[in-house]
Amino acid sequence: MVDTPGRIPEDFIQSLLSRVDIVEVINAAVPLRKAGTNYVACCPFHNEKTPSFSVNKNKQFYHCFGCGVSGDAIQFLIEHNSLSFVEAVELLAGQLGMQMPQSGQSEPSADHNLIYNILAEATAFFEQQLRQQTLAKQAVQYLKDRGLTGITAKAFRLGFAPPGWDNLLTSIAKDPKQKELGVKAGLFVNREGNKFYDRFRNRIIFPIRNRRGKVIGFGGRIIGSTSDEPKYLNSPETPVFSKSHELYGYYEARQAIARSNSVLVVEGYMDVVSLVQAGITNVVATLGTACTEQHVQYLFKTVPEIIFCFDGDAAGKKAAWRSLEICLSLLDDQHRVKFLILRDNEDPDSYVRKYGAAALQVEMKQAASLPDFLFTTMAKQVDLDHIDGRVQFATQIKQYLAKLPEGILKTMLFDRLAQLVNVDPALFHGKKPRAMQRRNEFSQSIISKALVSPAIRALALLITYRELAADLATDIFSLVSIDIFGCNLFCAVAEILKASPTITDAEIKALLPEALRENFVVMDLRGIAHIVPKQGVREEFLGAIEILRRRKKELVMDDLLLKAKQNVLTDADKLLLQQMLQEKG
Ligand code: GTP
Ligand code: MN
Repeated sequence: MVDTPGRIPEDFIQSLLSRVDIVEVINAAVPLRKAGTNYVACCPFHNEKTPSFSVNKNKQFYHCFGCGVSGDAIQFLIEHNSLSFVEAVELLAGQLGMQMPQSGQSEPSADHNLIYNILAEATAFFEQQLRQQTLAKQAVQYLKDRGLTGITAKAFRLGFAPPGWDNLLTSIAKDPKQKELGVKAGLFVNREGNKFYDRFRNRIIFPIRNRRGKVIGFGGRIIGSTSDEPKYLNSPETPVFSKSHELYGYYEARQAIARSNSVLVVEGYMDVVSLVQAGITNVVATLGTACTEQHVQYLFKTVPEIIFCFDGDAAGKKAAWRSLEICLSLLDDQHRVKFLILRDNEDPDSYVRKYGAAALQVEMKQAASLPDFLFTTMAKQVDLDHIDGRVQFATQIKQYLAKLPEGILKTMLFDRLAQLVNVDPALFHGKKPRAMQRRNEFSQSIISKALVSPAIRALALLITYRELAADLATDIFSLVSIDIFGCNLFCAVAEILKASPTITDAEIKALLPEALRENFVVMDLRGIAHIVPKQGVREEFLGAIEILRRRKKELVMDDLLLKAKQNVLTDADKLLLQQMLQEKG
């Protein structure tokens, strides 16, 4: 163990080391090769031709049999990158997203080993209570009714916290020091300074283990389904337990995960236990919190594929979307993320009990990839038959895809998006299409403006499909100066094309009033027009003009109503207003 300068609290160092993966730290500097249970490389600290430098993932330790160097992840960075101790800790903390403690402010360091020890004692106590306590009968019966076997209960070290305020307390914490330690470990609650009581009472206990198999916290479930109490009670955050970093079932599943190259992430303790019993063993659960970036990073270190499985209810769908957002920035070309939303409000546990593990495995195989899930979920929210919908679709998906790390996947998905909405892929690739490189403010986000402005859509279609000029009514110019973006430009171009439908873009430009000329960005407009499938062009065009007309009517009506209020309506105005009010019905 390296020396800890007083400036950084020991428990911070410990929790840093318990989260870091030495294999990844070293592999970033010295490519490692798996050899049995260890990883090996030629030693970076002395000259050699055959590898004698070995990294042990379980012990989180490296050692060179050639030159004898050894240490943990921090030590490696100190030696290899010539960092100071503090610099090495800061580097790792930064990579793990851990906040460095303020110097001097941190509480006195709790001894992690003592906390692990008392948690181990508590686990053994709860386990034993499930077997021997007469009061545990109900708990045992409940687990049996839910289909759990004794073997499963044992594998997950399930336990029972008896009813009463001090069963655990009197059994494992005889002196005040132990009581304080138990509070730190999340086992006891401190009341009025020197009184203590058991946090978990009359609950089935699910011990939560860290990746090295040490119990770091508990989930406690009420027995049965009706109670005023919350269904689950979890350990609070402690020096050894952080919900945003830990996953229930990881330790039990680690070999299955490595074997299957895939991990299933579910929401509940019971889901994990039940799936493992049914034979789906590469499964973990988040601890009653949403999935975090740390969870995904952690899993991606050991496995290329994560399959998220969520209940089919609204909460499940929301959680799925949150996970998607978390995963985007981490989804490089070496990893895959899939989503499985169960139908009919089943959760994974009820699903396997109803349809069997094989059925769930089929569903897992068919789970939607993250890109498919993104595209289909978004597509359901917009109307892809219309240009507004497609523009909205493209704009939103583009924002999500932008978060992906650079790589083949990202490029391919932007191409797929471009194809779907029928635009030049260059539009999405950060590179501007050549013709777009000179852009003024008007044209800068013309795609998103097309979303809100029917005038821009009508204009885009008209200059691209000149035959539409035949559909222009004679009074088209009357739409000028209504308060819709791009309307004046549309009216001016429409006037020109109505008179001479075959003239070139350059000629149109020359004929436009000076003030509008600069806004006539032909390439951008054609880009928008091409989002519309050919067979829908005319309908889209007439639809856009119809919106302009409706707006025009509203404005006229507002004007007449104002005049009516002021009592200045002419006879002609009155007639018009009457007509319009009738039309409106
Ligand atoms: P059952 O099948 O009802 O035993 O539970 P489950 O494991 O299927 O859990 P559920 O899907 O209802 O909830 C998912 C997870 O959210 C649980 O495993 C808990 O971690 C957490 N959770 C559920 N209910 C509560 C609660 O009342 N309080 C807290 N703190 N967490 C809860
Ligand atoms: Mn459940």
